[in-house]
Amino acid sequence: MKVPLLSLTGQYRQLRREVLREVQKVCDSQRYILGSNVEALEKEIARYCGTRYAVGVASGSDAIRLALMAAGVGPGHRVVTTPYSFFATAGSIALVGAVPVFVDIEPESYNMDPERLESLLRKKKRIKALLPVHLFGQCAEMRPVKKLARSHNLAVIEDAAQAIGAEYSGRRAGSLGDMGCFSFYPSKNLGCFGDAGIVTTDNRRTAERLKMLRVHGSRSQYLHTVVGTNSRLDEIQAAVLRVKIKYLEGWTEKRIKNAERYNELFSQAGLLGFVTPPTVPSSKRSVFNQYVVRARQRDRLRQYLQKNGIGTAVYYPVPLHLQKCFRSLGYRRGDFPVSEKAARQALALPVYPELKKSELNYVVATIKRFYTRAGRR
Ligand SMILES: Cc1ncc(COP(=O)(O)O)c(C=O)c1O
Repeated sequence: MKVPLLSLTGQYRQLRREVLREVQKVCDSQRYILGSNVEALEKEIARYCGTRYAVGVASGSDAIRLALMAAGVGPGHRVVTTPYSFFATAGSIALVGAVPVFVDIEPESYNMDPERLESLLRKKKRIKALLPVHLFGQCAEMRPVKKLARSHNLAVIEDAAQAIGAEYSGRRAGSLGDMGCFSFYPSKNLGCFGDAGIVTTDNRRTAERLKMLRVHGSRSQYLHTVVGTNSRLDEIQAAVLRVKIKYLEGWTEKRIKNAERYNELFSQAGLLGFVTPPTVPSSKRSVFNQYVVRARQRDRLRQYLQKNGIGTAVYYPVPLHLQKCFRSLGYRRGDFPVSEKAARQALALPVYPELKKSELNYVVATIKRFYTRAGRR
């Protein structure tokens, strides 16, 4: 049996006609950039996330970069985030001329540890914003993070790239901070047919500023109020996303069911000493963009699964503080032990909505076989 980490084929087959019809309408209209589909999508995403505004941009990375710019972050500033994330989180901070300052994660959620954040904020100066990540589809502990932000007068920008539809105390990702940044990269829970992203906010002036920044800082043509960039969302991607957003809740429910089924199967198979499934507190709804376990002998298990036709991934093998490009920040191995341990143990298993029960059973049975083979117990 072959079980890829992610397959979009089933989803494409289901939506092909509907999506192609909408794409064709865009082509027939000959309006490709920032048209009625983008406007409608912005309203739909804002409604879905529970915010007043959403501003479409060219990618999730740009969503973070433009959000930082809209918050006035630039040279001389520091922005706190976690070293256990996709590169764009810290890369975007550096791109606006600010310095990423890392704080370690909680071992269970892989997200910003509020206690460590508190002690960091006591020591470090010139911090302008916090950039918590909702990794793998589960929200960071936003209540203490926001409380700290308020007391230190900091902006909170959520990296919600992996977390559309995730909830924290009944509120959706993207509505928890001052701005929320989403990616519509194809592998995301709501993915388009290329690159796209969006920033959510409740603040009208912030939304206006974002709209300006995405078109070279211009409010009316050829008049530039600030220096912005070209980061527009195009009509074809917006049309695709508008079809797909109608199915998002159904897909998310299936991801959650798959995750629950994995948890049950690992427990029934007596694998809990070998594999630690993700935990989600009752105050949160994870949307399982990834189902990530901690596994003993992770790399050997991964190889074994690959040999048996099962796709997995390591998110992320090298934490951001140890990346070559951030060497000048002066961090060393051992500075963020929780992130470094996660980088050695974490393994993402297939969890996409169309995964069949038999495929899921096969993944767990193969993991069981790996650990029961001679010498592994
Ligand atoms: C946590 C995180 N932040 C930012 C991004 C950047 O999004 P994009 O690939 O759309 O630029 C991604 C997605 O890849 C991500 O997973």
